Amino acid sequence: MIPEKLKTALDEHVSAEIGAAYLYLAMSADFESKAFKGFGRWMRVQFQEEMTHALKFVDFMLARGATIVWKDAKAPATTFGTALETFEKTLAHEREVTARIHKLYHLAAAEKDTATQVFLQWFVTEQVEEEARVSEIVDKIRMVSDRPGSVLYLDKEYGKRTA
Ligand code: FEO
Repeated sequence: MIPEKLKTALDEHVSAEIGAAYLYLAMSADFESKAFKGFGRWMRVQFQEEMTHALKFVDFMLARGATIVWKDAKAPATTFGTALETFEKTLAHEREVTARIHKLYHLAAAEKDTATQVFLQWFVTEQVEEEARVSEIVDKIRMVSDRPGSVLYLDKEYGKRTA
């Protein structure tokens, strides 16, 4: 049994991962509508990744015998500005997710739920990778942001991302 307080926090986190997926799907659509097909593709893969994260939480909770209480996922905006602004917002969002994961980990430790702590370790590592991946994109777009041809080159390069 997952301790009640931790179970409620995990319920909320499922909706946070689905909310992240929803956000990146919206960013993908925004990029596509601005002819940034590559960044749109990158965001669509990110959307799929976030859904995978949500499912990992769902499967873990079910394996622990928990009854999941579904929460609302926040509707995203429809436009996110320039490519640089969109990825800056992505990085800010990933930092929020990291903080949430760390908070969950500390709660699992306080509640002495070893299985949840071990489960969350994968996410702690994953968030380090996610932030590094997005941070690199932000840095690269910043470097070339005054040269549209170079931004389009990055769009093409990042469009090669696969799930
Ligand atoms: Fe599921 Fe990007 O954190």
